[in-house]
Amino acid sequence: MARHVGHPITVRAISSAQLPTRSKVFAIFVIIFIAVDVFFNPLRTTPLSSTYKTPNFVDFSFRLIFLRPNCKTSPSRLIRRWRMGCFASKSADSKASRLSRWRATGIVALRDGKLKSFPDEVLELDKSVRTLDLTHNKLVDVPEEISKLINMQRLILANNVIERLPMNLGKLKSLKFIILDGNKLTTLPDEVGQLVRLERLSISGNLLTGLPETIGSLRNLLLLNVSSNKIKSLPESIGSCFSLEELQANENSIEELPTSVCSLIHLKSLCLDHNNLKQIPPSLLKECKTLQNISLHGNPISMDQFQQMEGFQEFEDRRKKKFDKQIDSNVMISSKGLDEGVDL
Ligand SMILES: *[C@@H]1O[C@H](CO)[C@@H](O)[C@H](O)[C@H]1NC(C)=O
Ligand SMILES: *[C@@H]1O[C@H](CO)[C@@H](O)[C@H](O)[C@H]1NC(C)=O
Repeated sequence: MARHVGHPITVRAISSAQLPTRSKVFAIFVIIFIAVDVFFNPLRTTPLSSTYKTPNFVDFSFRLIFLRPNCKTSPSRLIRRWRMGCFASKSADSKASRLSRWRATGIVALRDGKLKSFPDEVLELDKSVRTLDLTHNKLVDVPEEISKLINMQRLILANNVIERLPMNLGKLKSLKFIILDGNKLTTLPDEVGQLVRLERLSISGNLLTGLPETIGSLRNLLLLNVSSNKIKSLPESIGSCFSLEELQANENSIEELPTSVCSLIHLKSLCLDHNNLKQIPPSLLKECKTLQNISLHGNPISMDQFQQMEGFQEFEDRRKKKFDKQIDSNVMISSKGLDEGVDL
């Protein structure tokens, strides 16, 4: 929001040939700008002197006035934006207005911001934050104080360079979604197990070598995505994630599945492409009665082995039925879709 000021400022577009002298023009436009601003900007929160002394203002007045003829914005919209304080200077999207906007919506969206550290001002919002999205920044750390955001339901930190998570994370009892794809996490803290409302946990593309045993406490978890990590085995406790419908663990180094996965009676999709599995628990197909999709491409497991498993025929029937249903409801699927599952 209010990133207008952050756009690249194209002062270079004004060649010196077009201007008699830069400084004279400056003076004139600064005066015009001040005059217009004083009339139209009721939201200005900083005193004139401090606003207009910023180098931003000077560059900005150029952009505003010289580039105006090429600008697609209508004059009325320009004035409206001006009134909203977006055009005064970087400080016009003042901390106070940002905080009140975040407080009103409960959504703090700070994607693609080149942030290197966690924005402390967000912590001031404590109970108001429902969603915090810091996707695609350069965060390395998440502070322990994040536990102040006690009502947060969605925490989205994808594509940063986060190396560790705070232990206090476990205090965020309202969390339903945690998205941490594309970071540099090597472990998940045991405290993750305290997030009993969690429904979706996505940590693909990190450096995890395993998952904490405490993961079994996540009885409401529907989706777990740990694809593209360095996981060698899944904990036995995973079988206690009673609600799990989708387990994605492609591209890891998993050699064996714990037999407990057979207790995941709501599991619909189990994706384990490109691992080191030589076998899967013999009663998997028999016990997991809702399983419709198993993907085991790129594992040293033979189709024969798979077909001989108890419950294979029932699994096949379910899988076919699902595809038939999709065809019935006119969903386009590729013919490839029908033999997707294992390397046949
Ligand atoms: C899981 O992560 C992989 C890799 O980032 C991604 O391609 C896939 O769409 C994710 N799956 C789900 C269901 O979110
Ligand atoms: C089954 O899993 C594979 C691998 O993740 C995925 O590409 C495919 O879309 C899934 N099919 C269904 C029907 O869910």
